[in-house]
Amino acid sequence: MNMDNNSKKIVLSGIRPTGQLHLGNYLGALSNFVKMQNEGKYDSYYFIADLHALTTNPDPKELHTNVRHILAEYLAAGLDPEKSTIFVQSDVPEVSEMYLLLNMHVGIGELMRTAAFKDKARKALGITAPNQGDDDEDVAKEIIGASTNKRVNAGLLTYPTLMAVDILIQRADFVPVGKDQEQHLELTRRFARRFNSFYKTEYFTEPQNFNFGSAPVKVPGLDGSGKMGKSEGNCIYLVDEEKVIRKKVMRAVTDGGPTEPNQPMAEPVQNLFTILKLVGTPDKVEYFTEAYNNCSIRYGDLKKEIAEDIVAMTTPIRERILDIENDSAYLHRVLEMGAERARARASKTLADVREIMGITKF
Ligand code: TYM
Repeated sequence: MNMDNNSKKIVLSGIRPTGQLHLGNYLGALSNFVKMQNEGKYDSYYFIADLHALTTNPDPKELHTNVRHILAEYLAAGLDPEKSTIFVQSDVPEVSEMYLLLNMHVGIGELMRTAAFKDKARKALGITAPNQGDDDEDVAKEIIGASTNKRVNAGLLTYPTLMAVDILIQRADFVPVGKDQEQHLELTRRFARRFNSFYKTEYFTEPQNFNFGSAPVKVPGLDGSGKMGKSEGNCIYLVDEEKVIRKKVMRAVTDGGPTEPNQPMAEPVQNLFTILKLVGTPDKVEYFTEAYNNCSIRYGDLKKEIAEDIVAMTTPIRERILDIENDSAYLHRVLEMGAERARARASKTLADVREIMGITKF
């Protein structure tokens, strides 16, 4: 059976190549990848989840370009192929086979109840608002009902199985992700437990989120509500030029300002403080919190501070992205090395899983 000689804990995470990375991806995920790598305590695996991106049927050329973008952004942000295994998901075909195997233990109902699936299915079906009360039923009825000619693809439904396989096939202990991925991680743990209990084994460990002792991050958008997301159009990208960043931040939604001392903050203002906490220093947070509480705050100053802090954080990364992206030979080498290492570990796990499930040679 697969006995690890390596005593280092395994870290694994991935990002879908659906466009360029924004501040949410960076603060929620990538910056932690880099920190964990540089701590030297872990054996790290970071990948580009191109198979997951297929769930939204992207244009093939665009998909290919986006894989390149993410790879360049990983490297520009500080991931180092000498210290981490950096790879593309589809370069590890073992993942696809184990996805088939694990699906045999995954319930359609539990997949249909995941928040990310419901959101995406609603979009695909053109359902605008969740029904009051019976939140799950609108999607289920539409999907099963014969009255619609709109399709929700099966890959979207089994997205969490594929994600669980990414994690379990590398036998990861820690999975640094933002708050929005917690439900997927919870499902991964459930699938691992179910597999272990069905086959009376303790083969899989249950992976945990990791954010250096703090709660998982949710970076809000600049439009006053919700999270920063590619599809929401409320993002600051790592590749944004300084003046674009300043413009976007200065346009962020606020309110008319506090009129009473210690007044509770409206959501858009809270969001700006959340961003300041992530990009600024504690003394700046304290300064603006006090100014808010004694009603002397000027949102323009707060936004200027946030914009400058973001610019300082992203500029060195942006400058490296372009150089790296143009170096095809280097990108090729990084991925070749990464694929080899990722496949070595994955094929060991797959062989064990086949054996545990009774798929053995005569
Ligand atoms: P994806 O591509 O949607 O997002 C990549 C990472 O960015 C984080 N993130 C955020 N964090 C904080 N605030 C935000 N506004 C924000 N927006 C995005 C996400 O939490 C995530 O960590 N299913 C994954 C990809 C994946 C994966 C895996 C991750 C596939 N297999 C195995 C870990 C392990 C996803 O869609 O991420």
